[in-house]
Amino acid sequence: MKNICVIGVGYVGLVTGTCFADLGNRITALDINAERIANLNKGILPIYEPGLEEMVKRNVTAGRLHFTTEYSTALRDADFAFIAVGTPEGVDGEADLQYVRTAAEAIAAHMTAPLIIVNKSTVPVGTGDWVADIVRSKQPKPIPFNVVSCPEFLAEGTALADFMNPGRTVLGSLDRDAAAKVADLHLPLRAPIVITDLRTAEMIKYASNAFLATKISFINEIANICEALGADVKEVAAGMGYDPRIGRHFLNAGLGWGGSCFPKDVKALAHMANVQGKHPQLLQAVIDINYDQRRLLIGKLRDQLTTVNGKTIGLLGLAFKPNTDDMRDAPSIELAQTLQAEGALVKGYDPVAMTVAGRLLPGVRLCEDAYEVAQDSDALIICTEWNEFKQLDLVRVKRSMKQPVIVDGRNLYDPAHLQKMGFHYRGVGRGYNNKG
Ligand SMILES: NC(=O)c1ccc[n+]([C@@H]2O[C@H](COP(=O)([O-])OP(=O)(O)OC[C@H]3O[C@@H](n4cnc5c(N)ncnc54)[C@H](O)[C@@H]3O)[C@@H](O)[C@H]2O)c1
Repeated sequence: MKNICVIGVGYVGLVTGTCFADLGNRITALDINAERIANLNKGILPIYEPGLEEMVKRNVTAGRLHFTTEYSTALRDADFAFIAVGTPEGVDGEADLQYVRTAAEAIAAHMTAPLIIVNKSTVPVGTGDWVADIVRSKQPKPIPFNVVSCPEFLAEGTALADFMNPGRTVLGSLDRDAAAKVADLHLPLRAPIVITDLRTAEMIKYASNAFLATKISFINEIANICEALGADVKEVAAGMGYDPRIGRHFLNAGLGWGGSCFPKDVKALAHMANVQGKHPQLLQAVIDINYDQRRLLIGKLRDQLTTVNGKTIGLLGLAFKPNTDDMRDAPSIELAQTLQAEGALVKGYDPVAMTVAGRLLPGVRLCEDAYEVAQDSDALIICTEWNEFKQLDLVRVKRSMKQPVIVDGRNLYDPAHLQKMGFHYRGVGRGYNNKG
């Protein structure tokens, strides 16, 4: 049992704290957002993540998981302080480190005993050294500490399983003993542990996310070529994916990536390269292809409707991916804004992101379910591949629409089947089946 302070109760911090509590440690999770902490103390979670609410309750009841806004409380008796605050995109594409800085300064001001500071946030290469400089310079009196980088690889929607069964744990530090102590915390997870230096660990995280984003942009580029040549990208991806050197994951063509990580992380890596006088042309192409997918999809809608002005367009799925309520850089936002700017009435529905959507999608008529979205719509766009959209009653959907047009941004449906039902159906890269 270790005493761990986790700073930030967002997607990463809350999952990290709760999972470490579940492994038998004593966790104090801290956030500067007083409302989030007050709600957590009432059992109300700030985010949606499958299975998390139950796990939080279990560990609070067992006395292993506490929430506070006070650094002095959180750091009292702490062996480790995990920084899990946001690192959003800055004005020039760089990672904005203001929250990391504030957290480091607060740790320095409130630590009373030797501490291992573990950086879970995704931060530019060199940030671990920078955090150490901040803590050293802001301590009222010198107290020994070490900084260890432990980047997080969980994915929203499967975060608990990802945390408990990671593909690997990456640890970076200039101090092997400190890294070994953080490794001990992770031993129950029985995953390979890579111990390296701080900067290399920080780079592993960026390189991993950039690679996954590249796979998606790659298959989207292939999809667009498939569409022109009459091949079906879903079959192409399946055929490619059996090759173990390629693998099937992240080869789903569609609206591309969004969310809280890939967009900002690929841009931040490109920014780091640019600052060093490098020319990150692959990363730039990966970004460009991704955002082009959203425009191409609107183009397909215009093809079907001639104009979207005065038309009613329904968005199915608003979160950036299924099983989360996260809408940061969700394609649905850009689609809704573009359609509204062109004079369309936009309706939308998401199984869990409706509260977030209410804040982010002004003017969009939020509906109770997919069928209400379909009612009197001129077209539906599938934005998120939620399971509940996979087996909709399409006869009912078609009957209630003004025009039977579906633009499928996630390739959920079989083009031939939908065309046989009388839909004008467009997917992404579905070859000669794509001209409904
Ligand atoms: N969300 C993901 O899927 C994911 C996956 C891997 C890595 N990451 C990385 O983890 C980090 C956190 O991401 P997230 O999605 O959990 O962010 P988030 O926005 O969901 O949560 C961040 C939390 O930190 C709090 N905070 C900000 N400054 C603080 C401070 N000084 N002291 C205490 N709390 C503070 C905020 O109030 C917020 O609750 C980012 O660097 C992100 O890139 C995220």
